[in-house]
Amino acid sequence: MNKLFKSKIISNEALTEEIYLLSLEFPESIETKPGQFCILRLNERLDPLLGRPFSIFDHVPGEIKFLYRVKGKGTKILSQLKKDQLTIIGPFGKWYPFPQGDFIVIAGGIGLASVYYLIKKFPKKAHLFYGVRNENEILFYEELKEFAKHVYISTEKETSYTYRGVVTELFKEKGKNLSLPIYACGPMVMIKELKKIVNEAQPCYVATEERMACGVGACLGCVIATKQGFKRVCTDGPVFEIKELLL
Ligand SMILES: Cc1cc2nc3c(=O)[nH]c(=O)nc-3n(C[C@H](O)[C@H](O)[C@H](O)COP(=O)(O)OP(=O)(O)OC[C@H]3O[C@@H](n4cnc5c(N)ncnc54)[C@H](O)[C@@H]3O)c2cc1C
Ligand code: FES
Repeated sequence: MNKLFKSKIISNEALTEEIYLLSLEFPESIETKPGQFCILRLNERLDPLLGRPFSIFDHVPGEIKFLYRVKGKGTKILSQLKKDQLTIIGPFGKWYPFPQGDFIVIAGGIGLASVYYLIKKFPKKAHLFYGVRNENEILFYEELKEFAKHVYISTEKETSYTYRGVVTELFKEKGKNLSLPIYACGPMVMIKELKKIVNEAQPCYVATEERMACGVGACLGCVIATKQGFKRVCTDGPVFEIKELLL
Protein backbone atom coordinates (compact mmCIF):
# COMPACT_ATOMS: atom_id res chain seq x y z
CA MET A 1 0.00 0.00 0.00
CA ASN A 2 1.32 3.46 -0.81
CA LYS A 3 0.99 6.53 1.38
CA LEU A 4 1.49 10.28 1.16
CA PHE A 5 3.35 12.03 3.96
CA LYS A 6 5.81 14.79 4.76
CA SER A 7 9.35 13.86 5.52
CA LYS A 8 12.44 15.70 6.77
CA ILE A 9 15.72 15.60 4.87
CA ILE A 10 18.47 13.93 6.90
CA SER A 11 21.17 14.67 4.31
CA ASN A 12 21.47 15.55 0.64
CA GLU A 13 25.04 15.04 -0.40
CA ALA A 14 26.80 15.58 -3.76
CA LEU A 15 28.73 12.42 -4.69
CA THR A 16 29.89 13.80 -8.06
CA GLU A 17 29.17 17.04 -9.91
CA GLU A 18 25.74 15.79 -10.94
CA ILE A 19 24.90 12.81 -8.72
CA TYR A 20 23.43 13.20 -5.24
CA LEU A 21 22.46 10.90 -2.39
CA LEU A 22 19.30 12.03 -0.60
CA SER A 23 18.42 10.56 2.76
CA LEU A 24 14.97 11.15 4.28
CA GLU A 25 13.12 10.20 7.44
CA PHE A 26 10.69 7.38 6.71
CA PRO A 27 7.97 5.84 8.92
CA GLU A 28 9.04 2.49 10.36
CA SER A 29 5.59 1.04 9.61
CA ILE A 30 5.96 1.29 5.82
CA GLU A 31 7.58 -1.64 4.03
CA THR A 32 9.42 -1.28 0.73
CA LYS A 33 10.94 -3.76 -1.71
CA PRO A 34 13.87 -3.51 -4.14
CA GLY A 35 12.70 -2.23 -7.54
CA GLN A 36 9.92 -0.04 -6.12
CA PHE A 37 9.98 3.73 -6.35
CA CYS A 38 8.58 6.80 -4.61
CA ILE A 39 7.40 10.13 -5.96
CA LEU A 40 9.05 13.12 -4.30
CA ARG A 41 7.21 16.42 -4.32
CA LEU A 42 8.80 19.71 -3.35
CA ASN A 43 6.56 21.29 -0.72
CA GLU A 44 4.99 24.74 -1.08
CA ARG A 45 6.31 25.06 -4.62
CA LEU A 46 3.99 25.06 -7.58
CA ASP A 47 6.85 24.91 -10.06
CA PRO A 48 7.54 22.11 -10.79
CA LEU A 49 4.03 21.10 -9.76
CA LEU A 50 4.37 17.41 -10.48
CA GLY A 51 6.36 15.10 -8.26
CA ARG A 52 9.38 13.25 -9.61
CA PRO A 53 9.79 9.45 -9.44
CA PHE A 54 12.95 7.93 -7.92
CA SER A 55 13.88 4.31 -7.25
CA ILE A 56 14.39 3.29 -3.66
CA PHE A 57 18.17 3.11 -3.41
CA ASP A 58 18.30 1.87 0.18
CA HIS A 59 15.98 1.53 3.15
CA VAL A 60 16.85 0.93 6.79
CA PRO A 61 14.39 1.38 9.69
CA GLY A 62 13.43 5.06 9.90
CA GLU A 63 15.44 6.16 6.85
CA ILE A 64 15.06 5.89 3.07
CA LYS A 65 17.67 6.86 0.47
CA PHE A 66 17.49 7.96 -3.16
CA LEU A 67 20.39 8.26 -5.58
CA TYR A 68 19.69 10.80 -8.30
CA ARG A 69 21.25 12.57 -11.25
CA VAL A 70 20.49 16.25 -11.81
CA LYS A 71 18.66 16.37 -15.16
CA GLY A 72 16.34 19.37 -15.29
CA LYS A 73 14.40 21.81 -13.18
CA GLY A 74 13.03 19.43 -10.53
CA THR A 75 16.27 17.63 -9.74
CA LYS A 76 18.20 20.93 -9.79
CA ILE A 77 15.90 22.33 -7.08
CA LEU A 78 16.11 19.04 -5.18
CA SER A 79 19.92 19.18 -5.19
CA GLN A 80 19.84 22.58 -3.46
CA LEU A 81 17.68 21.49 -0.53
CA LYS A 82 19.35 20.98 2.83
CA LYS A 83 17.13 20.58 5.89
CA ASP A 84 13.77 21.06 4.19
CA GLN A 85 10.68 18.87 4.24
CA LEU A 86 9.52 16.96 1.17
CA THR A 87 6.31 15.14 0.40
CA ILE A 88 6.89 11.46 -0.31
CA ILE A 89 4.25 9.41 -2.08
CA GLY A 90 4.84 5.70 -2.26
CA PRO A 91 6.17 3.12 -2.35
CA PHE A 92 4.85 2.34 -5.83
CA GLY A 93 5.20 -0.38 -8.41
CA LYS A 94 6.11 -4.01 -8.91
CA TRP A 95 9.37 -5.04 -7.29
CA TYR A 96 12.06 -7.41 -8.56
CA PRO A 97 10.98 -11.04 -7.99
CA PHE A 98 13.15 -12.26 -5.11
CA PRO A 99 16.10 -14.37 -6.32
CA GLN A 100 16.27 -17.93 -4.98
CA GLY A 101 20.06 -18.23 -5.21
CA ASP A 102 22.87 -16.46 -7.07
CA PHE A 103 21.81 -13.87 -9.62
CA ILE A 104 23.26 -11.49 -12.18
CA VAL A 105 22.88 -7.72 -11.91
CA ILE A 106 23.59 -5.38 -14.81
CA ALA A 107 23.62 -1.68 -13.95
CA GLY A 108 24.30 1.16 -16.35
CA GLY A 109 25.27 4.49 -14.72
CA ILE A 110 22.53 5.87 -12.48
CA GLY A 111 20.69 2.53 -13.01
CA LEU A 112 22.63 1.47 -9.91
CA ALA A 113 19.93 3.37 -7.98
CA SER A 114 17.38 0.65 -8.72
CA VAL A 115 19.52 -2.45 -8.01
CA TYR A 116 21.71 -1.52 -5.02
CA TYR A 117 18.96 -2.35 -2.50
CA LEU A 118 18.50 -5.79 -4.14
CA ILE A 119 22.24 -6.53 -4.00
CA LYS A 120 22.32 -5.49 -0.33
CA LYS A 121 19.20 -7.47 0.61
CA PHE A 122 20.69 -10.71 -0.77
CA PRO A 123 24.33 -10.48 0.32
CA LYS A 124 27.06 -12.41 -1.51
CA LYS A 125 24.61 -13.65 -4.18
CA ALA A 126 24.96 -11.01 -6.91
CA HIS A 127 27.37 -11.20 -9.85
CA LEU A 128 27.43 -7.49 -10.61
CA PHE A 129 28.26 -5.94 -13.99
CA TYR A 130 28.39 -2.17 -13.56
CA GLY A 131 29.09 0.21 -16.44
CA VAL A 132 30.11 3.85 -16.04
CA ARG A 133 31.92 6.37 -18.23
CA ASN A 134 34.99 6.87 -16.05
CA GLU A 135 36.48 6.00 -12.66
CA ASN A 136 35.03 9.12 -10.99
CA GLU A 137 31.53 7.83 -11.67
CA ILE A 138 32.03 4.53 -9.84
CA LEU A 139 29.81 4.85 -6.79
CA PHE A 140 29.78 2.78 -3.58
CA TYR A 141 32.65 0.58 -4.76
CA GLU A 142 33.58 -0.62 -1.25
CA GLU A 143 29.96 -1.39 -0.34
CA LEU A 144 29.38 -3.20 -3.64
CA LYS A 145 32.46 -5.35 -3.05
CA GLU A 146 31.13 -6.14 0.42
CA PHE A 147 27.55 -7.03 -0.62
CA ALA A 148 28.07 -8.63 -4.06
CA LYS A 149 29.73 -11.96 -4.81
CA HIS A 150 31.70 -10.59 -7.78
CA VAL A 151 32.00 -7.04 -9.09
CA TYR A 152 32.97 -6.38 -12.73
CA ILE A 153 33.15 -2.75 -13.83
CA SER A 154 33.41 -1.30 -17.32
CA THR A 155 34.65 2.19 -18.18
CA GLU A 156 35.42 3.94 -21.47
CA LYS A 157 39.17 3.61 -20.79
CA GLU A 158 40.68 0.57 -19.13
CA THR A 159 42.06 1.07 -15.59
CA SER A 160 43.83 -1.23 -13.14
CA TYR A 161 40.49 -2.61 -11.93
CA THR A 162 38.00 -1.90 -14.74
CA TYR A 163 37.47 -3.29 -18.23
CA ARG A 164 37.32 -1.10 -21.34
CA GLY A 165 34.01 -0.88 -23.18
CA VAL A 166 30.30 -0.95 -22.48
CA VAL A 167 28.75 -3.06 -19.76
CA THR A 168 26.86 -5.38 -22.13
CA GLU A 169 30.16 -6.29 -23.85
CA LEU A 170 31.72 -7.01 -20.45
CA PHE A 171 28.71 -9.18 -19.58
CA LYS A 172 29.09 -11.11 -22.86
CA GLU A 173 32.74 -11.75 -22.05
CA LYS A 174 32.48 -12.63 -18.34
CA GLY A 175 28.86 -13.48 -17.57
CA LYS A 176 27.20 -14.98 -20.62
CA ASN A 177 27.89 -18.55 -19.46
CA LEU A 178 26.31 -18.07 -16.03
CA SER A 179 22.83 -19.64 -16.15
CA LEU A 180 21.33 -17.29 -13.59
CA PRO A 181 18.41 -14.84 -13.58
CA ILE A 182 19.30 -11.30 -14.60
CA TYR A 183 18.19 -8.07 -12.92
CA ALA A 184 19.00 -4.91 -14.84
CA CYS A 185 18.53 -1.16 -14.89
CA GLY A 186 20.17 1.40 -17.13
CA PRO A 187 19.71 3.55 -20.21
CA MET A 188 17.40 2.32 -23.00
CA VAL A 189 20.36 1.63 -25.28
CA MET A 190 21.68 -0.85 -22.68
CA ILE A 191 18.27 -2.51 -22.24
CA LYS A 192 17.89 -2.90 -26.03
CA GLU A 193 21.34 -4.47 -26.33
CA LEU A 194 20.61 -6.77 -23.39
CA LYS A 195 17.42 -7.98 -25.06
CA LYS A 196 19.50 -9.14 -28.04
CA ILE A 197 21.94 -11.17 -25.94
CA VAL A 198 19.73 -12.76 -23.26
CA ASN A 199 18.80 -16.32 -24.15
CA GLU A 200 15.13 -17.36 -24.26
CA ALA A 201 15.27 -19.59 -21.17
CA GLN A 202 17.02 -17.04 -18.94
CA PRO A 203 14.71 -14.87 -16.81
CA CYS A 204 15.65 -11.20 -17.19
CA TYR A 205 13.90 -8.49 -15.17
CA VAL A 206 14.46 -4.87 -16.11
CA ALA A 207 13.37 -1.68 -14.39
CA THR A 208 12.13 0.84 -16.94
CA GLU A 209 11.82 4.61 -16.73
CA GLU A 210 9.14 6.69 -18.43
CA ARG A 211 8.01 10.21 -17.70
CA MET A 212 5.22 10.12 -15.12
CA ALA A 213 2.38 12.32 -13.96
CA CYS A 214 -0.19 10.76 -11.59
CA GLY A 215 1.89 7.74 -10.51
CA VAL A 216 -1.24 5.70 -9.73
CA GLY A 217 -2.30 4.33 -13.10
CA ALA A 218 -4.93 6.95 -13.93
CA CYS A 219 -3.43 9.26 -16.57
CA LEU A 220 -1.75 6.75 -18.96
CA GLY A 221 1.15 9.19 -19.18
CA CYS A 222 3.78 6.51 -18.64
CA VAL A 223 2.81 3.67 -20.98
CA ILE A 224 5.31 1.30 -22.57
CA ALA A 225 4.69 -1.13 -25.47
CA THR A 226 4.61 -4.83 -24.52
CA LYS A 227 3.48 -8.06 -26.21
CA GLN A 228 0.19 -7.68 -24.29
CA GLY A 229 -0.37 -4.10 -25.48
CA PHE A 230 0.52 -0.86 -23.71
CA LYS A 231 1.30 -1.17 -20.00
CA ARG A 232 1.69 1.51 -17.35
CA VAL A 233 5.19 1.77 -15.92
CA CYS A 234 3.86 3.18 -12.62
CA THR A 235 1.48 0.33 -11.77
CA ASP A 236 2.21 -2.61 -14.13
CA GLY A 237 5.98 -1.93 -13.77
CA PRO A 238 8.50 -0.45 -13.40
CA VAL A 239 9.95 -3.98 -13.39
CA PHE A 240 9.13 -6.06 -16.48
CA GLU A 241 10.42 -9.34 -17.92
CA ILE A 242 12.55 -8.13 -20.85
CA LYS A 243 11.03 -10.63 -23.31
CA GLU A 244 7.61 -9.01 -22.76
CA LEU A 245 8.83 -5.59 -23.90
CA LEU A 246 8.63 -4.39 -27.51
CA LEU A 247 11.77 -2.27 -27.69
C1 LIG B 1 10.17 4.58 -11.99
C2 LIG B 1 11.26 5.59 -12.16
C3 LIG B 1 12.35 5.55 -11.32
C4 LIG B 1 13.38 6.49 -11.47
N1 LIG B 1 14.44 6.43 -10.63
C5 LIG B 1 15.43 7.33 -10.73
C6 LIG B 1 16.53 7.30 -9.83
O1 LIG B 1 16.59 6.47 -8.92
N2 LIG B 1 17.51 8.22 -9.99
C7 LIG B 1 17.47 9.16 -10.99
O2 LIG B 1 18.39 9.97 -11.10
N3 LIG B 1 16.43 9.22 -11.85
C8 LIG B 1 15.41 8.35 -11.74
N4 LIG B 1 14.34 8.41 -12.59
C9 LIG B 1 14.31 9.51 -13.59
C10 LIG B 1 13.89 10.80 -12.87
O3 LIG B 1 12.56 10.66 -12.43
C11 LIG B 1 13.98 11.99 -13.85
O4 LIG B 1 15.33 12.19 -14.18
C12 LIG B 1 13.45 13.25 -13.17
O5 LIG B 1 12.05 13.14 -13.02
C13 LIG B 1 13.77 14.46 -14.03
O6 LIG B 1 13.14 15.57 -13.42
P1 LIG B 1 13.64 17.06 -13.71
O7 LIG B 1 12.57 17.99 -13.28
O8 LIG B 1 14.99 17.27 -13.15
O9 LIG B 1 13.79 17.05 -15.27
P2 LIG B 1 12.78 17.64 -16.37
O10 LIG B 1 12.98 19.13 -16.40
O11 LIG B 1 11.41 17.15 -16.11
O12 LIG B 1 13.42 16.98 -17.62
C14 LIG B 1 14.81 17.20 -17.97
C15 LIG B 1 15.25 16.18 -18.99
O13 LIG B 1 15.17 14.87 -18.42
C16 LIG B 1 14.38 14.03 -19.25
N5 LIG B 1 13.62 13.11 -18.39
C17 LIG B 1 12.68 13.44 -17.48
N6 LIG B 1 12.16 12.33 -16.91
C18 LIG B 1 12.81 11.28 -17.46
C19 LIG B 1 12.71 9.88 -17.30
N7 LIG B 1 11.82 9.31 -16.50
N8 LIG B 1 13.56 9.10 -18.02
C20 LIG B 1 14.44 9.64 -18.87
N9 LIG B 1 14.56 10.96 -19.08
C21 LIG B 1 13.75 11.78 -18.39
C22 LIG B 1 13.47 14.97 -20.01
O14 LIG B 1 13.03 14.42 -21.23
C23 LIG B 1 14.37 16.16 -20.23
O15 LIG B 1 15.21 15.95 -21.35
C24 LIG B 1 13.30 7.49 -12.47
C25 LIG B 1 12.18 7.54 -13.32
C26 LIG B 1 11.18 6.60 -13.16
C27 LIG B 1 9.98 6.67 -14.04
S1 FES C 1 1.90 8.13 -14.35
FE1 FES C 1 -0.25 8.21 -14.66
S2 FES C 1 -0.67 6.23 -15.41
FE2 FES C 1 1.42 6.11 -14.89
